[in-house]
Amino acid sequence: MLIELKNVSVIFEEKTDVEKVALKDINLSFSTDESILLIGNTGSGKTTLIYLLDLLIKPSKGFLLYDGKDPFFYPYEFRKRFGVAFQIPERQFFSETVEEEITYAAKNFGVPFTQEDIEKVLELVGLRKNILKQSPFKLSGGEQRKVAIASILLHKPEFLIFDEPTAGLDLKGVLSVREILKKFKNSGKGFLVATHEPELFEDLCDRKIVLKSGTILEDVRSSVAHT
Ligand SMILES: Nc1ncnc2c1ncn2[C@@H]1O[C@H](COP(=O)(O)OP(=O)(O)O)[C@@H](O)[C@H]1O
Ligand SMILES: [Mg+2]
Repeated sequence: MLIELKNVSVIFEEKTDVEKVALKDINLSFSTDESILLIGNTGSGKTTLIYLLDLLIKPSKGFLLYDGKDPFFYPYEFRKRFGVAFQIPERQFFSETVEEEITYAAKNFGVPFTQEDIEKVLELVGLRKNILKQSPFKLSGGEQRKVAIASILLHKPEFLIFDEPTAGLDLKGVLSVREILKKFKNSGKGFLVATHEPELFEDLCDRKIVLKSGTILEDVRSSVAHT
């Protein structure tokens, strides 16, 4: 899928005295088979860009095109193709058990899965099966992040979007996030990872986009050509 942003600005509290321009006149296009590192200081607009890509907020100016179409006319169809893990995983949770949490997105998007698929994604993120009956709210930050990632993998997205995926993870957790991204890439699919720790993911990415104060400061493709 081709994603295009044309002169996109996102302005919060527009025309009030607390107006905040979070993204300013962004022109960006990428294909969902690219592996993209999104970096920038806190407040530079990374999370806002992710909300926009997942169609949770609309541009204040400019427009988005997904395969040449206005995605806001087909939000369900396009959101289904993304697997988004937000910055604070527990804000995404609302189920009583990890199992319900992990299966929610797949059910919601009408994507069939088996018990074996559930076990596979648990293994991939490094969680044990006995966690399924537990409450997602009682887990550690690292486990919650793994649950959030497991839930998005179960609906078999074609593009992953991870917002600060290593927050709350120990080294083992970081390595398992890297493994997930690597496997995804090796299967011909792409991802966008927003992070303030670029060194953890730089080698996995073909493209680096640097945001500063809501604008694109740098957009570079690595010398290894994407095939
Ligand atoms: N809902 C909101 N209302 C008002 N301002 C916001 C809102 N969300 C984000 N902002 C502001 O927009 C800017 C970009 O924020 P954000 O996208 O979260 O940056 P990052 O993820 O790079 O830290 C920040 O100045 C932030 O305070
Ligand atoms: Mg953020």
